[in-house]
Amino acid sequence: MVRSCLTSGPAETQVLGEKIALFLQPGDVVLLHGELGAGKTELVRGLSAGLGLPPELVSSPTFALVHQYPARIPLIHVDLYRLPVLEDDFLLELEEYWHHPVVTVIEWAERLGPHLPEEYLDITLAWVDDQVRSVEIFGKGSRGKILAAACQACWPD
Ligand SMILES: Nc1ncnc2c1ncn2[C@@H]1O[C@H](COP(=O)(O)OP(=O)(O)OP(=O)(O)O)[C@@H](O)[C@H]1O
Ligand SMILES: [Mg+2]
Repeated sequence: MVRSCLTSGPAETQVLGEKIALFLQPGDVVLLHGELGAGKTELVRGLSAGLGLPPELVSSPTFALVHQYPARIPLIHVDLYRLPVLEDDFLLELEEYWHHPVVTVIEWAERLGPHLPEEYLDITLAWVDDQVRSVEIFGKGSRGKILAAACQACWPD
């Protein structure tokens, strides 16, 4: 089941992320999809705020592929845009993260191909107009489904 909403402006996407973060637990993985400028990083800013970090701390991991933030639950922010082909070593590193008590958030998660965790929350953002984005959410595995259901309480008014 896919759940969806619209956000009007980056602040609303951040607030959505902030609310979703309140449901996150160590070990959770959030996969993000959407074209350049869809709002994935804005959502991560919200997630980080919800985990107790200042949102301005979060940037697109342009040089580093992985940023680690020391939040209430450590936040691992991965951006696969610059990595169309994933080396085995890097995949192992990612798998390590999602078996640790951290929250792992991955932009351009489609680059993972079949190398997915067993359970995850999946969020796709898409451009509707200059200020509006559609957000589609579904969950994989029992934990993912719990998170996806919880997200419905996070929609903008
Ligand atoms: N409703 C909205 N939600 C999120 N961002 C929005 C919205 N409306 C406008 N924007 C703008 O769209 C841009 C989203 O940028 P952001 O870096 O979050 O995209 P991204 O999906 O992470 O792109 P990339 O693939 O390049 O990392 C920002 O400039 C933001 O101000
Ligand atoms: Mg980004």
